[in-house]
Amino acid sequence: MPENFDFLVLGSGGAGLSYALRVAKYGSVAIVTKKDSAESNTNYAQGGLASVVDKEDRFEDHIEDTLIAGAGLCRPEVVEMVVRSGPDVIRELLDWGARFSNVDGTLDLGREGGHSRKRIVHAADRTGKEIERALLSALDKHPNITVMEHHFALELITEHHLGQKVTRHSTDTHCYGAYIFDIRSGKVETIRARATLIATGGVGQVYQHTTNPTIATGDGIAMAYRAKAHIANMEFMQFHPTSLNIPEANSFLISEAVRGKGGILRTRDGRTFMGDYDERAELAPRDIVARAIDEELKKTGEDSVYLDVTHIDRDVILEHFPTITETCRKFGVDVTKEWIPVVPAAHYLCGGVLTDIDGRTSISGLFCAGEASCTGLHGANRLASNSLLEAIVFSKRAAMASAEYIQGQSELPAIPDWDDSGTVNAEEAILLSHNQQELQKVMWDYVGIVRSNLRLERAFRRSHLLYEETEDYYQRTRVSVPLCELRNIIANAYLIIQCAMKRKESRGLHYTTDYPKPVTSEKHDTII
Ligand code: FAD
Ligand code: SIN
Repeated sequence: MPENFDFLVLGSGGAGLSYALRVAKYGSVAIVTKKDSAESNTNYAQGGLASVVDKEDRFEDHIEDTLIAGAGLCRPEVVEMVVRSGPDVIRELLDWGARFSNVDGTLDLGREGGHSRKRIVHAADRTGKEIERALLSALDKHPNITVMEHHFALELITEHHLGQKVTRHSTDTHCYGAYIFDIRSGKVETIRARATLIATGGVGQVYQHTTNPTIATGDGIAMAYRAKAHIANMEFMQFHPTSLNIPEANSFLISEAVRGKGGILRTRDGRTFMGDYDERAELAPRDIVARAIDEELKKTGEDSVYLDVTHIDRDVILEHFPTITETCRKFGVDVTKEWIPVVPAAHYLCGGVLTDIDGRTSISGLFCAGEASCTGLHGANRLASNSLLEAIVFSKRAAMASAEYIQGQSELPAIPDWDDSGTVNAEEAILLSHNQQELQKVMWDYVGIVRSNLRLERAFRRSHLLYEETEDYYQRTRVSVPLCELRNIIANAYLIIQCAMKRKESRGLHYTTDYPKPVTSEKHDTII
């Protein structure tokens, strides 16, 4: 028997949880999440949430900084709406119980690259953990919300599952919920819902080196793509300039807020270099800093540059960056005395499922918020700490639009059960992890910070082979999380490569040696 809910939320990061809290007053809500509820990119966010809260600050300046970083591709009306919603978002998070760093009740504001002034609201260097904690405790035992941990969303349900033809040009496709794999029982459940939100986060795991946790396999984007929703701007993958370059540290993030407090980048021999690349030096937007580091590494042949905070007051470092200090210490680096070895790593996807200003996708009844979405806020490059802000603002807009949507809706159709007839249990699961590693390396080597036609074509050929092998395996085998995640990573890699091939210019995060400059005729979204 299918389970029925008014609202189905895929993902329990900042976007999913805050949407659930808002729609719960309009009906029943199921939150489906593939691990423990807190496990999400949100949980690892360090620097904070950008918002105009200082009375000296101005909305106009935050808008301007966002537009500059976005390199001509932001939707100005979205930027204006999000920036002006910032103070309300902070108030709402405080009401939900979030505790941010403050001095005598006044919020302490950090500074990050691309921001013309201090405006980052934070909880020391564990802002995301604090937001997750507050949201999860606000919805704990909410009578209208059912949380389904260790449940993996497999596919969105549309007219396709009712035997009708759906194409990317169809204008009357509806989402009726999703097929959900209960990881512990091994069964696939049908969850019908009047409105479904994709809040499944980003795609860092497409790359060999990433600051993202293992959940970031782009499942929602891949599902939406297969359901024939419009996807946009996947070429704009943001590489964070500074991840800890110690193999066992898994590309642990060294927050941009560290440079905001005065951290200086140096080569191994102590030379500072950011001033040679941009007048904003260490506080230039991320794409510039990441490319500068990439170039220095290629020039010097070294495997690391270094972030030096040894000149900053020890107490300031310990107070603002307790997690970073402790993690570096665990890996043998005393940041108060030694430089931190850092390299860029894949961090944030600016593209995703295309939405309007209320989080509606091109499929009726399907909404999207957070990192899985492409709302028009970030354009070709996201400004630091604008993503938590976007996730909370758009989950509110999507909540309002979803509540309105379900009012005018007729009965949900009968949905067939998941059909796995003819499939068998996996035999050589190790092949999946080999394929995943191969794809991650291809993407890192050929679709990274600096691209070219040759590299993209090579990546396309290699990833297509992995696609064919994996699809063949999928057709014959019962579903499992590693198999579905691999399929989703491959779909996202394909979308990134396709979008990158379509953009015949360099803009924001997309840099190709074949077209090294921005071109006016290319100043538009890449929509698939
Ligand atoms: P997430 O928080 O990633 O949540 C996605 C959820 O979906 C998870 O619960 C996941 O388990 C679930 N999920 C995924 N696939 C499935 C599936 N198939 N079935 C069921 N559940 C699924 N941004 C800022 O603005 N400021 C910062 O300081 C900042 N620091 C960051 C530091 C790090 C290390 C990282 C990785 C990111 C940082 N970001 C920061 C980016 C920001 O954290 C994310 O963009 C944002 O939290 C995304 O929120 P989300 O709710 O969209 O997705
Ligand atoms: C950081 O703390 O450097 C991450 C901020 C962000 O991704 O916006």
